[in-house]
Amino acid sequence: MSVEAREPVRARHAMVVTVEQHATDVGAAVLQNGGNAVDAAVAVAFALAVTHPSAGNLGGGGFMLLRMADGRTTFIDFRERAPGAASHDMYLDADRNATKDSQIGYRASGIPGTVAGMAYAHAKFGKKPWNELVQPAVDLAKNGFPVSWGLANMFTLDNIAEKLAEFPESKRIFLKGGAMLEAGDVLTQPELAATLERIRDRGADDFYHGQTAHLLAADMQEHGGLITEQDLADYKVIERRPLTGFYHGHTVVTAPPPSSGGIGILEMMGILDGTDYTRTGAGSARELHYLAEAMRRFFADRSQYMGDPEFNKVPVTELLDPHYLETLRASIQPEKATPSSEIRPGKIELVEGSHTTHYSIVDAAGNAAAVTYTLNDSFGSGVTPAKLGFLMNDEMDDFAPKPGEPNGFGLVQGEANSIAPHKTPLSSMSPTMLVRDGKLEAVLGTPGGPTIINSVLQVALNIIDFGMNAQEAVDQPRIHEQWMPDRLQAEMSFSPDTIRLLESYGYEVQLKRRIGEMAVVLVRNGWLEGAPDGRTEGTAKGF
Ligand code: DON
Repeated sequence: MSVEAREPVRARHAMVVTVEQHATDVGAAVLQNGGNAVDAAVAVAFALAVTHPSAGNLGGGGFMLLRMADGRTTFIDFRERAPGAASHDMYLDADRNATKDSQIGYRASGIPGTVAGMAYAHAKFGKKPWNELVQPAVDLAKNGFPVSWGLANMFTLDNIAEKLAEFPESKRIFLKGGAMLEAGDVLTQPELAATLERIRDRGADDFYHGQTAHLLAADMQEHGGLITEQDLADYKVIERRPLTGFYHGHTVVTAPPPSSGGIGILEMMGILDGTDYTRTGAGSARELHYLAEAMRRFFADRSQYMGDPEFNKVPVTELLDPHYLETLRASIQPEKATPSSEIRPGKIELVEGSHTTHYSIVDAAGNAAAVTYTLNDSFGSGVTPAKLGFLMNDEMDDFAPKPGEPNGFGLVQGEANSIAPHKTPLSSMSPTMLVRDGKLEAVLGTPGGPTIINSVLQVALNIIDFGMNAQEAVDQPRIHEQWMPDRLQAEMSFSPDTIRLLESYGYEVQLKRRIGEMAVVLVRNGWLEGAPDGRTEGTAKGF
């Protein structure tokens, strides 16, 4: 197996890890100038909205997990909500087939939450003046920044250029009118700069009640979108209690519903606990087999039980009950894959190619922020509303547009996650922290749709059970299994011999270049270790 030899970035006091260099620099500068982790998280969110437009956003939403130095934890849910005019069958055509409208175009967007989420976090936990935190993003949008190889490449992937070309503002800004951006080109975004200036000067009020709200609702109305000024005015951030569990002496603080991720991580840890899955070592076929079997069992439960907790009861206690976990564990056979069809019925297809982003921050006082936010698919719905300069999300596709049939991630979901006005779509985003002996141990998270839950699980296990440092834990190859389709995805850096062994256990293995894009901070022996994913352009910076 090839494990990268790169060391984590190490520092004594504070650390920022994001997927993009400029955003990392912005966050580190805030910390260096006396801002706390929440200030830095706010500044990074706005910076990524400029420099990482596939996922960084004003027009999307996400989750912020916080742990303050005094041990308080909280979870800020600023995810998109369904517009008031949304309805159960809104994406079905006359023959009751699901259309692409939940993924592309004006009707795909939920009410954005990012600006409200940042304002909420800042008002409650921030130290620095708001305008100072938005200013770096204004500068990046106004003065421009050199497009990296990775960003230029994103426009060439999948159907991205086609999708953006459908919408004139998106084509003009992000595809250079059709000529395509190349690495080294300077991308300036004057409309986005003007929007950010209003947010800098008038706060979230501009986005939800002011000029931005007005322009956004007008553009939506003109093009058949659902979001109204009333929807924006009614948007509310929800502060929730994080989900907490214990595994091998570590406290796991993670994402509660409407994320399915925290339940998943704790359910899978609960299944693995009591097996000797570590015996043959990290990356061995037998270890991967136990992981895959735990993943398959969790994802079967996810399909049935999870949705917005405001609309249905999510059976968290039942799913994490030790007796229930014991029955799941007992159903795993050594060296033999359980066909997913024997776990629960259902057949779906997995579709690739989308984007979200995660960043992890620890400040000099020991406060920590883990933020995962998104437009859902890469570059969201493809729509850039006139005069605003930012992309809108297609988060409505995280609902079950047609319960019982796969959504864009191939996830089969039930009525618990069907569409209703003001409802929040179920998420897999899983910002997570590990705590040991009352002290912060790790901050972690990643994009990747349903693979998020499994990636966070694997990196946590690499830290807890295999004692890896932050970079080793991140760069260790990963697998993904989501019950249906009955197929194991594995990163291609696994040894071919391992893959062959897994096939002999009965797995259909699909090789992937990369699963996830982790950003981790680990606290160990008085040092902070910052680890971006070694297979990306992510960076870590500390002092
Ligand atoms: O909330 C969710 O689960 C999805 N909207 C996340 C999408 C995602 O991670 C795409 N990234 N590659």
